[in-house]
Amino acid sequence: METSPPSVAGFVADRPAPGDPVPQTLLLLGASGDLAARLLLPGLGRLVASGAQPGLRLIGSGTDDWDDERWRRRVADSFALVGADGPRETEVVRAARYLPADVTGEEDLRRLLAACHGQVVIFFALPPAITARAAAALARIGLPPGTRLMLEKPFGTDAVSARSLNDILAGLVPEDQVHRIDHFLGKSTVVNILGLRFANRIFEPVLNSAHVACVDIVFDETLGLEGRAGYYDGTGALVDMVQSHLLQVLALMAMDAPPTLDARDLRGRKAQVLRATRVWDDDPVRWSRRARYTAGEVDGRRLPGYADEPGIDPARGTETLAEVVLAVDTWRWAGVPFRLRSGKALAGTRKEAIVTFKQPPRVPTGLTGYEQPDRLRIGFGPDRLGLDVNVNGPGNPLELDQVHLMADFGPGELPPYGEVLRGAFEGDPTLSVRGDTAEDCWRIVEPVLEAWRAGAVPLQEYPAGSPGPKDFLLTPAPGEMRRH
Ligand code: BG6
Repeated sequence: METSPPSVAGFVADRPAPGDPVPQTLLLLGASGDLAARLLLPGLGRLVASGAQPGLRLIGSGTDDWDDERWRRRVADSFALVGADGPRETEVVRAARYLPADVTGEEDLRRLLAACHGQVVIFFALPPAITARAAAALARIGLPPGTRLMLEKPFGTDAVSARSLNDILAGLVPEDQVHRIDHFLGKSTVVNILGLRFANRIFEPVLNSAHVACVDIVFDETLGLEGRAGYYDGTGALVDMVQSHLLQVLALMAMDAPPTLDARDLRGRKAQVLRATRVWDDDPVRWSRRARYTAGEVDGRRLPGYADEPGIDPARGTETLAEVVLAVDTWRWAGVPFRLRSGKALAGTRKEAIVTFKQPPRVPTGLTGYEQPDRLRIGFGPDRLGLDVNVNGPGNPLELDQVHLMADFGPGELPPYGEVLRGAFEGDPTLSVRGDTAEDCWRIVEPVLEAWRAGAVPLQEYPAGSPGPKDFLLTPAPGEMRRH
């Protein structure tokens, strides 16, 4: 049974006139950090520009000794990055306040909450350990009724810390008011997986082990560390990308059709499939890879080796590329490997989910040149849908050739952070990660992390700007395929 969370003594909620929208305050903890400037505030700017959240107040807080003016400049600059500088956005900037605070201290948190008006949305743009301490302090002082919490990834640092953070949050607000952010769930192409799978007859009937040989979910970037040593060196590619974003994509690719897209149905389906997911053969030594980049050139940019980047402790052995093969133990997917990979400073960008179909049971004698299986590709940037299919080629009609059909997905109205913020402002947790799922995502990768910590999987190297270590297991991209 859900219990009512305690309320803050002395907090008086604004009372809107009947029919008026409830005023809201976004309280951003960790406001002076990089995440706020690069992703969150631009997303907020676009959301406000779209006409949503009239009268929104924005309060930033952090340990940096900023004043309102400096914060307003930061907000205005971030809004301007995405062309969000109309009258609504200017209003938000003008009313924005910055309160320096130790967000793990009860007195400071009381002061921050007292400065909020209306319904409060608290965004924890903080490292996991600080988030846990701030949440524990909030649990001691209580929250205004109806408060919603938004938490950045990584959610905890392992299954045990994720569970204990979930326990603290459960004492603060009901689960539906907790928004564990995974901005991939706000990407329009990721959400498009649902339309593609469940609003068509042609793919869903063959998305199962009878027809699919394997599924690859790949997120290769040309970006290197980009000055994020403080965050990344303690995280690495497996936790930064696979444990969070790519498992969410896997869930959408592998789940059964939900009857509706409301939070309970959709998150229930995702939870089922992730509960059935584990490392292939339970053998993380055989079925995982890790590597980090050495010096090289990417897109004409010279990058130092990861280990030589400022702020990096090479002895930690943090990987910049991770690959893991997973099994989804359901009737639909038993026996089909799901191969997840993400890497930084690679030769090219490759961001897609690829379903590779099995060979046809028999290609008729007389049709020659069958080389490649059919593939369905869902691109996450550029956002598009691709289909590699075998057809009779030009010239000799009995000689097969493969064609690549491609369609662009329409761009989303909002950037991913705008989308996830909208979910929290509207009280709709559909696009956020449910508490048990956050724990399951740790349970899935923990055997790999343990094997890596024990040194059972060597840390390979690849020059920045190269395609990555040679012996990786993934399906080649179309350009790399052997053509006949
Ligand atoms: C972030 C990771 O969550 O996602 C980054 O921390 C990564 O390392 C980024 O580059 C990729 O997402 P996007 O939206 O830039 O494609």
